[in-house]
Amino acid sequence: MKNAAMFLALALAFTSLTAFTFSGSNEYVGSKSCKACHSNAKMGGTAYKKWDGGPHSKAYETLKSAEADKIAKEAGHKTKAVETDACLSCHVTGMMEKGAKFSKRFKKTEGVGCESCHGAASAYKTKHAKDVAGAKKLGLESPSIADGSAEKLCVSCHNEKSPTYKGFDLKKYWAKIDHSK
Ligand code: HEC
Ligand code: HEC
Ligand code: HEC
Ligand code: HEC
Repeated sequence: MKNAAMFLALALAFTSLTAFTFSGSNEYVGSKSCKACHSNAKMGGTAYKKWDGGPHSKAYETLKSAEADKIAKEAGHKTKAVETDACLSCHVTGMMEKGAKFSKRFKKTEGVGCESCHGAASAYKTKHAKDVAGAKKLGLESPSIADGSAEKLCVSCHNEKSPTYKGFDLKKYWAKIDHSK
């Protein structure tokens, strides 16, 4: 019995990890595609507004600063921060994923968008508004604070590989970007 539970836990952990790495043939469509519904409390809630006013929507813009270029140079890169893959990897949606696909609507300038955490959306975007369970089979990710899957996701970027890493405290950091109802 104990072994079966352990196996199940491991299998679940494995699927959630691979789900973030392989989005199948899904394309990243960009956060603007979520705006219409997720700005409205009567429809999908107000997550868009919260994200737009928060740090992740500025993550690309940040790489355009003189400070960012200085950090890139000190790390041995010869290109401007905003043209350096090693910086874009954590500052723009989908950039650290091998073989990721991007639709024409996707814009790097949106920084760390909704799909960085909820999965590339081309396949689930329409479906999930009425059928969340069905959408999960099409790549919708619902990382959770309670079961630890959210924290795993956060620390895939919030870690020592970040040249400006200041540590990561889930409770404190989540409070700053909380957009759940
Ligand atoms: C057509 C309107 C519409 C669009 C466009 C839309 N959403 Fe939604 N979304 C909804 C509605 C409505 C719900 C609530 C569904 C429910 O609880 O049954 C929802 C729920 C969600 C949830 C919560 C799922 C869960 O586990 O309960 C996430 C995450 C989400 N949307 C992400 C996105 C992202 C990312 C985009 C853009 C790529 C997006 N949505 C675009 C309407 C929309
Ligand atoms: C795809 C990479 C990525 C993921 C995943 C990610 N972040 Fe971030 N986060 C960033 C980047 C890049 C910045 C810096 C944005 C800026 O300042 O331009 C940032 C900044 C922040 C900030 C502001 C920090 C400050 O110094 O004010 C908070 C809070 C934050 N993230 C919380 C979270 C939480 C909570 C999660 C998980 C639910 C998470 N992040 C997941 C990349 C990521
Ligand atoms: C840094 C990661 C991150 C980003 C970026 C992000 N989300 Fe989320 N989102 C989460 C996490 C984690 C939760 C679940 C928190 C919990 O356990 O209650 C969540 C929850 C939600 C929910 C469900 C709320 C509920 O309680 O039913 C919706 C809807 C949602 N996000 C939509 C969006 C949309 C739309 C965007 C972009 C505008 C976005 N998210 C950007 C991590 C993120
Ligand atoms: C492993 C992921 C990761 C990589 C790679 C990364 N960053 Fe960041 N960056 C972050 C996160 C997360 C933050 C939010 C603050 C932190 O470090 O805790 C951030 C914040 C920043 C900031 C804002 C300063 C601050 O103190 O908040 C600048 C500037 C920056 N990064 C520049 C760069 C440059 C330039 C590169 C490439 C040489 C780079 N980053 C590579 C994840 C990363």
